[in-house]
This record gives sequence, C-alpha cells and structure tokens, in this order.
Amino acid sequence: MEWTRKDLIGIESLSRDELETIFQVASGFKRILDRSVKKVPALRGRTIVNLFLEPSTRTRLAFEMAATRLSADVISMNADASSFVKGETLKDTARNIRALNADIIVLRHSAPGAAFYLSKIIDIPVINAGDGSHEHPTQALLDGFTLLEHLKSLDGKKITILGDILFSRVARSNIFSLTKMGAEVTVAGPTTLVPSSFASMGVNVIHDLKTALTDADAVMLLRIQHERQSSTHFPSLSEYTSVFGLDKRRAEWLKPDAIIMHPGPINRGVEIDSDLADSERSVILEQVTNGIATRMAVLYLCTGGSISALETSKE
Ligand code: CP
Repeated sequence: MEWTRKDLIGIESLSRDELETIFQVASGFKRILDRSVKKVPALRGRTIVNLFLEPSTRTRLAFEMAATRLSADVISMNADASSFVKGETLKDTARNIRALNADIIVLRHSAPGAAFYLSKIIDIPVINAGDGSHEHPTQALLDGFTLLEHLKSLDGKKITILGDILFSRVARSNIFSLTKMGAEVTVAGPTTLVPSSFASMGVNVIHDLKTALTDADAVMLLRIQHERQSSTHFPSLSEYTSVFGLDKRRAEWLKPDAIIMHPGPINRGVEIDSDLADSERSVILEQVTNGIATRMAVLYLCTGGSISALETSKE
C-alpha cells in the first residue's frame, strides 16, 4: 500500500496494513544502516525540527540520527533554552518554526493531544514523540519491529506488558499496535496501576505475576513514572519490587526463549534486576538501535516518500 498520512499522531488510528508498511520500509532502512555508507539522499534539502519540551535521551537522539541518515538537516530545541520560558505558546512557537522553513516537526510534550493540535494548525508533517500519558507511537513501532525480528510474526504470540500501565503512553501505543498485529496481550501489575478497565482495549488484565509471565513469548517492562502520578499507587518502590520486580528466578516462568524488553530509561533494581537487564535474554539495546530505522521510515513516509521508489532504488 502507499502511505497517505501527513502526520503520525498515534497508533490508535493506524490499520494493520499501515503498520506493516512502516515495518517493511524500516526493514529496508535497517539494511542500509548495516552498510559501510550508512546514508541515503531521501530527505536531502529538508529540515527537521525536534521540538522536545520534555526530557529525552533515546527518542531525541534516534530522531536526530534518523534525520542524518536520510541526509536531512536537523535542529533540536529544548524547552529551557527556548522562548517557552518567556511564555511563548506552542502555537506561536510552531508557527515561527514553520516561518523559518522547517519541513517537519517532531514534538515531545507533556500534554496529551499536543501533537494532534499542532497537526491541525500547521501544514507540515507533525510526528508525535510522546504526548503526556496519551501515546508514544514511534516507541511502539520500534518495539513491534524488534518483536518481529525475534518472533517472525505476532499472530497468536503472547506478550505481557508489566508495570505502570495506567500512566504509560508506551503501554497504550503498544496495546494498539500489538493487538492490531494479532498478538495476545496481557497487562500486569498492581490493581492501582493496572485497572480492569484496560480489558476494554482487548487485553487480558492480570494482577498475579506468575500467571502473567507463564508462557509469555516476550515481556515488556515499564518504568514506574513518579512524575505522572498524582497520588501514591503502592506503598513504596521496594514493596513494588518485592511483588512485581523481574529477577532471574521469576524470569524462569517465561518461555525458555522469551525475550525481555524495556523502553528505557530503566530503574535498575526496581522493575528489573540489574543482571537481568544486561543478560542475553534482554533486547533493550536492540530496541534502541531499531529506533533509528523505524524513525527513518516514519520521517520518509510522512514527507511523501514512496515505497515503490525505495524498491526501485534497491534494484
Ligand atoms: N523510551 C523513551 O522514550 O526514552 P526517552 O524518554 O529517553 O526518549
């Protein structure tokens, strides 16, 4: 299929065909990243502005790397070094970036809906790099891509997402993506962070760790996000770890070849045992690497890049 969207705001509205298109294009770009010359001229002459109004390591650097590999110019901007501190609005900031001839804006913002709002008021592509507790679409894409590399297909595969589901944009985007790709998704953790209402998204809701991990093909751990919690949802971090932390003993409940994932940043010794995070079962750094090819695919497709042109360039 040909891609027709200007923006990538979330996974919720994407079809399985669209997800597969992104994975297919990302796969082509990943092969390019393995070559000695890791660069294509696809976005030569275009300027990408990374507008990051919340902290980020992985997402921002991967977007910068993706833009560079596509031969685009890239400029990154943080809230504390911009006129936001003087009270300039998001709308005025975006319109000024547009007036400076940017071709695409990648936005991270603490407010759910910020990327959608921006996509309606400016005529260039807007990519959501995380909007509050709403969605983090490119994280779900790199997670789905990593899972496909290991499991070949997601149809019928059992994926458990464990931890702070309630406040997690990563969980929401992954639930949309993984269920559309045919996986059986379980969300697990304390009842306060994993309310039964998540069942309406087509997932199993389980509060017993052993049940949630048994027979899983992959487990995706999530960080406890103190910054998004308005009240205490469990007695203490050590209490959380004692009941829901993943260590080597509990990891044996998974299938023998199951993989362990985490979007980062990880809290070593809280949601995951430090040795397990660095073990052979962990694909955490593979996820980070796959963030480049998947974001190259998103930037390429949303700026009008065609799949047939990519196919031709390979021949
Ligand atoms: N996974 C993720 O979004 O990490 P950063 O906050 O470092 O970008």
